[in-house]
Amino acid sequence: FEYLALSGKTVFITAGPTREPLDPVRFISNHSSGKMGYALAQAAIDAGARVKLISGPVNLTAPERVECIQVETAEEMLTASLEGINSCDLFIGAAAVADYRPVAVAEHKIKKGNEEIMELRLVKNPDIIASVAALSQRPFTVGFAAETHDLLSYARSKLERKKLDLIIANDVSVPGIGFNSDDNRVTLVSASGEVPLPQTSKRLLARQLIEHIAQHFNQQMAA
Ligand code: C5P
Repeated sequence: FEYLALSGKTVFITAGPTREPLDPVRFISNHSSGKMGYALAQAAIDAGARVKLISGPVNLTAPERVECIQVETAEEMLTASLEGINSCDLFIGAAAVADYRPVAVAEHKIKKGNEEIMELRLVKNPDIIASVAALSQRPFTVGFAAETHDLLSYARSKLERKKLDLIIANDVSVPGIGFNSDDNRVTLVSASGEVPLPQTSKRLLARQLIEHIAQHFNQQMAA
């Protein structure tokens, strides 16, 4: 970075999966590795920001100088995201939040019964990034859309529905990019248009993304 595009700014980043417990030994989760969110945290630090990383369970060490809050469930991630949100200039939702959680968490390990089919009842989780974007004093808000088809049209409708400033569209149907990969290829979607970023390492991509995000953010501040 030739100049520190985010110097003096506070950035909150959610990363990784959430875990939604069924009983003391089981949970519902997904394959998110947290790599993209952690790479964004590093890139934001390098751009001069103060970074709070709100992370689900992953096998990564937080970058130096990042304040890392470890959470498990979507509800915990929401609480940690809203704490100190008044000081947040830029919010990036890179976490793969479970859409649903079990209605109830069994106190004891659920025992195997005689039935062949067992039904689980799930309840919708809060939408963390939409909750942040709905605040009256809201940070500049950037989301991800991981899709297997109709990527850009879903991304655009999420941008509008969740009232985001930017969305990073990520095709997760292509092997070698996206979930759990070291590489990624995305398209940056905003109200003003689309910018495709070619496939590269998540580390380099994160630096490009932070540059673009900082540009949009600084433009909005100047407006
Ligand atoms: O709706 P969908 O899960 O595809 O939206 C993805 C975007 O919304 C990501 O930025 C993700 O971090 C965020 N999200 C969230 N809370 C949820 C679901 C998604 O913050 N419960």
